[in-house]
Amino acid sequence: MSYSTIKVNKIAGACGAEIEGVDLSKGLSNAQFDDIHRAFLDNGVIFFRDQNLDYDSQKAFVRRFGPLIEDPFVVGPPGHPEVMVLIKEPAETKNFANMWHTDSTFLERPPLGSSLYAIEVPPYGGDTMFSNQYMAFETLSPGLRAMLDGMKAVHSARGYNDEVDAGSYNANRPMKLRFDDVMAKAAKSLVEHPVVRTHPDTGRKALYVHTPYTDHFVGWTEAESKPLLEYLYAHASRPEFTCRFRWTKGAFVMWDNRCVQHYPINDYHGFRRVMNRVTAQGDRPS
Ligand SMILES: [Fe+2]
Repeated sequence: MSYSTIKVNKIAGACGAEIEGVDLSKGLSNAQFDDIHRAFLDNGVIFFRDQNLDYDSQKAFVRRFGPLIEDPFVVGPPGHPEVMVLIKEPAETKNFANMWHTDSTFLERPPLGSSLYAIEVPPYGGDTMFSNQYMAFETLSPGLRAMLDGMKAVHSARGYNDEVDAGSYNANRPMKLRFDDVMAKAAKSLVEHPVVRTHPDTGRKALYVHTPYTDHFVGWTEAESKPLLEYLYAHASRPEFTCRFRWTKGAFVMWDNRCVQHYPINDYHGFRRVMNRVTAQGDRPS
């Protein structure tokens, strides 16, 4: 695979590539964006080091992938409702989403992809892992693939509260609504998505179930669904499907929420970490 405007260095066999030769704070030509978009589709997650992004330039880049989404509960900085400033303070021990997941699949149209720009990073720890869900699907047996392809699952945020220290979350962030109220509201919404989705750009099939929001298979009880879902969660994060990114100040990452899961590792207690997140709207999975 050759690129005319950028250098693309894979960081693992399954997914993830660092991109060199581009300054994202400047407007990109169509040729540059086409190369970056192709690297994004080919690798599932792309990394850029030493960028100098303000809210406007991060938003302008992500908007080339799709319309931006405002977070339903966190208030953005003044004039930038589409930016979510993710802060973990040294005294906080719980982390938002400290598990393998796909963002916001309790929505009918979950995000296409999310971007993070590193403002402040701990001296060690706080890496993010990614896992290729095309490979997760393709490595299942033909029998299980045939059964799952065509099945649907119910997604909901109802099991999620336990993982988050809502008190600390509310105290430290300007909220549109209290975290617990938003999650209670989200928990009432049940959305069906295919268990195996077809990526709208690549046409490839990816496994699309994950720990926090997939509740049960449509037409199956929760008890019947649980053993198979747990098998699939464990399978989906096998080390050979993953890559691991070590953050540095100024690093910028964008992942494809339609074909990778991610895992923010909560191993940096006592240090502050600050990231700006901007998210692009996706389509209805099919
Ligand atoms: Fe996430």
